[in-house]
Amino acid sequence: MADRFNVLLLPGDGIGPEVIGATRRVLDAASEHFGFEIVYDERLIGAAAIRAEGAPVSDETLAAAKSSNAVLFGAVGDPEYDGGDIRPEAGLLALRKALDTFANLRPVAAIPALIDSSPLKREIVEGVDVLIIRELTSGSYFGEKVEGFDYSSDNSVYTKEEVSRVARVAFEAAGRRKGRLTSVDKANVMATGRLWRKVVNEISKEYPEVELDHVLADATAMHLIQNPRRFDVIVTDNLFGDMLSDEASVLPGSMGMLPSASLGAPGTPGIFEPVHGSAPDIAGQGVANPYATILTAAMMFRHGLDRPDVSNALERAVSVAMEAGYLTRDLGGDRNTEEVTEAVIRWIGAGEGQM
Ligand code: NAD
Ligand code: IPM
Ligand code: MN
Repeated sequence: MADRFNVLLLPGDGIGPEVIGATRRVLDAASEHFGFEIVYDERLIGAAAIRAEGAPVSDETLAAAKSSNAVLFGAVGDPEYDGGDIRPEAGLLALRKALDTFANLRPVAAIPALIDSSPLKREIVEGVDVLIIRELTSGSYFGEKVEGFDYSSDNSVYTKEEVSRVARVAFEAAGRRKGRLTSVDKANVMATGRLWRKVVNEISKEYPEVELDHVLADATAMHLIQNPRRFDVIVTDNLFGDMLSDEASVLPGSMGMLPSASLGAPGTPGIFEPVHGSAPDIAGQGVANPYATILTAAMMFRHGLDRPDVSNALERAVSVAMEAGYLTRDLGGDRNTEEVTEAVIRWIGAGEGQM
């Protein structure tokens, strides 16, 4: 069992440094409890990197990411750069491309402590457990772009290989869960959607034990809030995955609850990134919800550092803290980032021996 890890921390902008700072304190407590060591390298990304280094991510930072065991990322984005030619978000896109993290795992589950504060009815939310797998390094995000005022275009390209590899990750995940995979596309309109569907059908022959269905992306948006329990694993392209996961965040109750893991080929470093952004509306106030990033660190221990024991302990500490009423404003509570972080730290190791 590995007990020494090199982790690249990229706090980024807005609430990024707040939620990464909170998570680092939780990891310090976990390392003491479990006796592992994390060697951190901390660097700039996003608007912070533009200001200090002239680019949203430097070549040195990309090299540091490649030689790490895992990257723990906060958020990027700053209204100061809205409408400009150089964008903080480009740093994150370059990082995903450099590490070829093509499969972005975004689990969305109902949280017992929050069910009654959801805008959706209890009978819709209770028991929801969906894993959205978003293709992350291709599609309209990465095709050729033409940018002008009279004419602009984003080219959406998928190759058979790009669809196959993310489909395999999704079939494998479904096989370990309830055995149901929903592939989401717009095959009724888009050429890439028809390719997507054909390739997923072809790969499904390798996984006869997984039950596959295809649902159009617009209808999926509706099903997700009308009957979210119909889903086990969803696999979809880069743009649909981005939108559907924000929509799905109303199931647990807030963007501040959604973690994610961006994974490439086995043995290569993953990027562990909460789904939410830099939240400029609340940055600097000390009220950001750190749970998404703490749960993201839990995903890092499970999928990146092969320490499921640490992952379970972090997830358990978060549940206990939530059950005890440590809820930030976005969850209808009045606790701040600091209080929630302290609560999680207090409950690291809670319930051990009862498992
Ligand atoms: P956002 O996720 O930053 O915020 C959306 C809403 O959710 C806001 O009201 C915000 O206050 C709230 N929120 C988000 N995370 C929260 C948390 N942890 N605790 C409490 N409340 C939280 O999305 P946005 O406002 O559309 O975008 C703001 C900036 O972030 C933009 O520049 C965007 O490009 C960027 N962004 C970055 C990432 C990323 O770095 N992965 C993801 C999404 C958006
Ligand atoms: C996300 C974000 C990013 C995306 C942006 C900031 C580039 O919205 O991670 O969901 O669109 O992928
Ligand atoms: Mn997004």
